Amino acid sequence: MDIYKKNKTLFKLAPNLADYDKVYKDFDWEKVYGELEWFEDHKINAAYNAVDRHLKTHRKNKVALFFEDEKGDKQKYTFEELANISSKIGNYLKTLGVDRGDRVFIFLPRIPYLYFSFLAVLKIGAIAGTLFSAFYEDALFDRLENSQAKILITNSDLAQRLKTIRHKLPHLQKIVLVDDPKFQTEVAKSSESLHIAHMDPDDYAFMLYTSGTTGKPKGVVHRHLAILSQHLTAKYVLDLHDEDTYWCTADPGWVTGIAYEILGSWSCGVTSVVYSGRFDPQRWYQILQDYKVNVWYTAPTAVRMLMASGTQLVKKYNLGGLRHLLSVGEPLNPEAVRWGIEAFGRPFHDTWWQTETGAICIANYPVLDIKIGSMGKPVPGLIAGIIDDKGNEMTDGMEGNLALKKGWPSMMKTIWHRHVKYESYFVKDWYVSGDRAWKDKDGYFWFIGRADDVIKTSGERVGPYEVESALVEHPAVIEAGVIGKPDALRGEIIKAFVVLKPQYSTRLKDLNFLNDLKEELSRFVKKHLAGHAYPREIEFVDKLPKTRSGKIMRRILKAREMGLPVGDTSTLEEY
Ligand code: WTA
Repeated sequence: MDIYKKNKTLFKLAPNLADYDKVYKDFDWEKVYGELEWFEDHKINAAYNAVDRHLKTHRKNKVALFFEDEKGDKQKYTFEELANISSKIGNYLKTLGVDRGDRVFIFLPRIPYLYFSFLAVLKIGAIAGTLFSAFYEDALFDRLENSQAKILITNSDLAQRLKTIRHKLPHLQKIVLVDDPKFQTEVAKSSESLHIAHMDPDDYAFMLYTSGTTGKPKGVVHRHLAILSQHLTAKYVLDLHDEDTYWCTADPGWVTGIAYEILGSWSCGVTSVVYSGRFDPQRWYQILQDYKVNVWYTAPTAVRMLMASGTQLVKKYNLGGLRHLLSVGEPLNPEAVRWGIEAFGRPFHDTWWQTETGAICIANYPVLDIKIGSMGKPVPGLIAGIIDDKGNEMTDGMEGNLALKKGWPSMMKTIWHRHVKYESYFVKDWYVSGDRAWKDKDGYFWFIGRADDVIKTSGERVGPYEVESALVEHPAVIEAGVIGKPDALRGEIIKAFVVLKPQYSTRLKDLNFLNDLKEELSRFVKKHLAGHAYPREIEFVDKLPKTRSGKIMRRILKAREMGLPVGDTSTLEEY
């Protein structure tokens, strides 16, 4: 397992974190405050730190963003251009009446305007929210309503999806269309000189909705100081160097795209590649080759799909620039790590974190041996532990709740308008992640699974409740129970158990009817909720296992699906 130590030639550059144990032991957050630029009044601004501060350095005319879309349209922007365009948009947003603390949501594919807008919102002290372009009306409504967003930045195509919900969003004052020539003229006319808001480190900077087991998705809110964790992990874990070209394949609708495609990575001054097209192995390798990508941060599902396309394909490309590969979002299978070595001559480094943690928490580092299958060790500045439900640490080797000592810079500040929910994450002085894991005697952490029913499909976090709610909106459905079913490619797929109204269930013997109905229900969820959150498998059942109080017991559905013992059924109503 001694991958790097056995082969030092893999170190093309001295790693930023050369001695993990020493840095970890001596670490003090206060000592790294100087990694950021602070205003004289001890305030900061995360977007200023990501981009504008570089204008005073050699990075001013360096390319910050290489953009390419599926059709092959290419654009590039220097740090100075990013700073100027985002300042212009900031001034334009001010003319719309956007104030500090207002929520401005961005609903765009990964086009440059998404990045400009995100920076602009932070620069004027408003709170940016991001929305996946795969979202449809239900998902959009929940998020825009709960956040009481004042402005939505989108394009004319995606704006169509708001038609049926617009009238139910009284706080939404304006929908800005970035492909509207009027908007573009307004921005062009705006001044490049913007007063960048001086923010308290604790002031809110951005928010993301994420799913839990129950209820609607919740708005996880991060502060400006979160960039300190993001910057430091981009430096130590992603190992970004000034000369690097870096590609993160995540969408900023997901926290990874915000922390490591905008804030942390640009704060390290690195040149980033953004590709807005769909996944395609050949195209991905082409991008790695054309841009001479050195550091590549992706997800296990993508790695598995690349594996499926074969090692021969990789060998057709010149990927000699690659120095460091990483992955996040779901368990990284040992085969995927080994395949990385075979295909790229180096392993994928697993990293673990969550929307709520705001930055990488547990990781594998260039200088440390990888124990294949392990998530690695906590990042400097973080204490990770395995605790029981009361907050007591467990002995090494025992399974328990993966938890982090609270108080690092990118720990979420609140759950929007649900502070009680926020507080429920903490036991004693631990932030409890909701994941089950164990720690070995060398301090490496090993992932076991979720403690709750949250589904991870192709790395996307999906709450079963949201899918169930979407299904019951269909006229044929009485109720539904939704689980994540293990899947070799996607980690999990969404499987729904559906109880139909009698006039539908009596017709299930007709196979054409049955298959058509399954397809229709999948499409229905896709079109209401999100392009990625629909059930790939549907099974019609007569009834669902429920507790005496009427809660669907997804645990039982899952156990039955996987042919496992159903466990404690004492709360189960007869089934
Ligand atoms: C899962 C992602 C295993 C985990 C940045 C976590 C992982 C949830 C890993 C957070 C990993 C993330 N190994 N599981 N390396 N990384 N997860 O909020 O269950 O979308 O709690 O953030 O993804 O998902 P989220």
